[in-house]
Amino acid sequence: MLKVKICIGSACHLKGSRQVVEELQYLIDTNNLKDKVELSGEFCMNKCTNEGVNISVNDECFSVKPDQVKQFFTDVIQKRL
Ligand code: FES
Repeated sequence: MLKVKICIGSACHLKGSRQVVEELQYLIDTNNLKDKVELSGEFCMNKCTNEGVNISVNDECFSVKPDQVKQFFTDVIQKRL
C-alpha cells in the first residue's frame, strides 16, 4: 500500500491543497487504485516555504502545485506501484 499524505495546513491550503486532494482522489478512482493507494491529510509538515502543496509518499516529500497533479500522479505515484 502506497501511503500518500497531503498537507492541509494553512500555508498549503492557500496553495491549493484542497484542489490537489480532489484531483488525486479523482485520479485514484478512475485508475482503480483504491486498494493500492491510501490517501490522507496531514497537518503542517514544517516545509511551508516550498512552492507547492507538500505531499509525502511513503516517507519521501514532494512539493506539488495544483496544475502539476497529473504529472505527479504519473511520475511519482504510478511509478511506485
Ligand atoms: S502548511 Fe503545509 S507544510 Fe506547513
